[in-house]
Amino acid sequence: MAEPKTREHWGTRIGVILAVAGSAVGLGNFLRFPGTAAQNGGGAFMLPYFISLLVLGIPMCWAEWTMGRYAGARGCNSAPAIFTVIWRHPLAKYAGGLALVIPLVIYMYYVLIESWCLGYAFTYLIGDARLAEDPSGFFSRFVGMEQNGLIYEEDSGHGTWILLIVFVINFALIYRGVSKGIESFCKVAMPLMLTLGVIVLVRVLTLGTPDPAKPDQNVLGGLGFMWNPKPAALLNPATWLAASGQIFFSLSVGYGIIINYASYLTKKDDLALSGLTSCSMNEFFEVCMGGLITVPAAFLFLGVAATEFTGSSFALGFRALPNVFARMPAGQAIGALWFFMLFLAAITSSISMLQPVIAFLEEGFGLKRHASVSILGVLSALGAGFVLYFSKDLVALDTFDFLVGSVLILVLALVQAILYGWALGTERGHRELHEGAHIRVPRLVQFMLKWVVPVYLLAIFGGFFFVNMPSRDVLKFQLSSAVGMSQPESAVPEAWQNEFASHELPLPATATVRPAEGGGWRVFDADQALPYTIREAPGGLAVYVHEVGYVEKIGSDQVAFVSLLFVISILAFLLLMVHIAGRRWEAEGRFKGLEA
Ligand code: ALA
Repeated sequence: MAEPKTREHWGTRIGVILAVAGSAVGLGNFLRFPGTAAQNGGGAFMLPYFISLLVLGIPMCWAEWTMGRYAGARGCNSAPAIFTVIWRHPLAKYAGGLALVIPLVIYMYYVLIESWCLGYAFTYLIGDARLAEDPSGFFSRFVGMEQNGLIYEEDSGHGTWILLIVFVINFALIYRGVSKGIESFCKVAMPLMLTLGVIVLVRVLTLGTPDPAKPDQNVLGGLGFMWNPKPAALLNPATWLAASGQIFFSLSVGYGIIINYASYLTKKDDLALSGLTSCSMNEFFEVCMGGLITVPAAFLFLGVAATEFTGSSFALGFRALPNVFARMPAGQAIGALWFFMLFLAAITSSISMLQPVIAFLEEGFGLKRHASVSILGVLSALGAGFVLYFSKDLVALDTFDFLVGSVLILVLALVQAILYGWALGTERGHRELHEGAHIRVPRLVQFMLKWVVPVYLLAIFGGFFFVNMPSRDVLKFQLSSAVGMSQPESAVPEAWQNEFASHELPLPATATVRPAEGGGWRVFDADQALPYTIREAPGGLAVYVHEVGYVEKIGSDQVAFVSLLFVISILAFLLLMVHIAGRRWEAEGRFKGLEA
């Protein structure tokens, strides 16, 4: 098929590398990575992390570059068309629908966090004292964490108007197109981001021991806190899942973004070195900057309290770091630079999430740029409005992030690995990857793509479904004292309190014990059950911790459940659009005569 005259192309080689790296380097590197690594074994996390990078991340990145350019040379830029070129089957286009829903839904919450970054940079610039006085309270008000619907309260303090500005910037860049919009912006934003990042990094690493009264809280201690390996974590499948999830989220692999970006390349362009370079840039920002700033800095000033910031992994940087900036010399300026750098990192990623759907609307329905941008604007504003409205405890945001940013990206990665290894074929893939290539990629990579990647991903799914989906009671310790309790509700007996303390299990002073249905007891605090159950075990009474699986987590929270329904609706809507576009392509005979 002849290439349409209007087809877009990247302007320069460095431009496309910076655009892909810009898509990859984002909030995942600076906020998600440090929190995930610290919670999953610290330095030990780096073993599954690097294995995932080498076995899954880089090979899949090459596969996406290859499939994207291969289909782009045949006139296709959107995932449903790209997948159909590679796999001539009516189902292929629907699989491509996954590569539309993922970037779109991630954009819906990502743009909100992006607006927090700009809002915080602005707050530091004007020197709002409330942020330094009570960072957690400020964050809660800023994002409306106390209650759903705070968006409608004029004095709620969260930046709806900043979100609007951020939305407009994103769409203005997308409207300008691949080369004039995305590429030109990334060429300026990426070096600026690097410069700002280095300034903040040097400032953090030269803080020494900020409080002489707490000599343990020094830079080395902070790095050790983040990086000292806790090898026990390696035995937990959740650690391996978290590592692979982080690699995909961070590299923007499994999003449908790279195949779309690569479809604007020409036959002469290099894929092999460019793909590797963008991955390496991402790892530099992630490990050397993300890994050395957020958690170590928080530890320096807050000590182990830095670990208490649980909940949304994206929130850590907003709640912990303002404490740090409030106490460090030149903290206000560093705070402004840090959040502005985060904003740049976020926007080079968020624009990349819009382009796949724009490409689909134009290719599937023959729409002009203003029409495709307007439709996408309405659709994404609807989703961002949903996340903004359901702001209480960031449940909607976290549910979107879990369903799409953690699970669906792995599903799409699996689909793409199978398409590459079994439909395109590794022989053809290897040839395509080396056209115009500046380096040779070992054949082993093709073997990995065909066999190792799908098996590895399936194993991760298996672990996920059996380990993380269901809730379970995990035995923690055997109680050495049996205390008779006949009354329906009572305070936790002192003997038990001491045993909990000696096993380092937190138990609030207000906790009470009630007999549980089916025998044993459950421990409650003021407003909800604690995760403990006490019941008979072979050696006497034992304490179990109730670990909530994802099914219970989503099923027991109305907002989480509605968020799930919302994601399903967006998926259904996009699949319908894909279906209609497919009918048009069929009528046009679009794929006829194309070499498979
Ligand atoms: N890959 C992007 C990030 O890490 C989306 O934030």
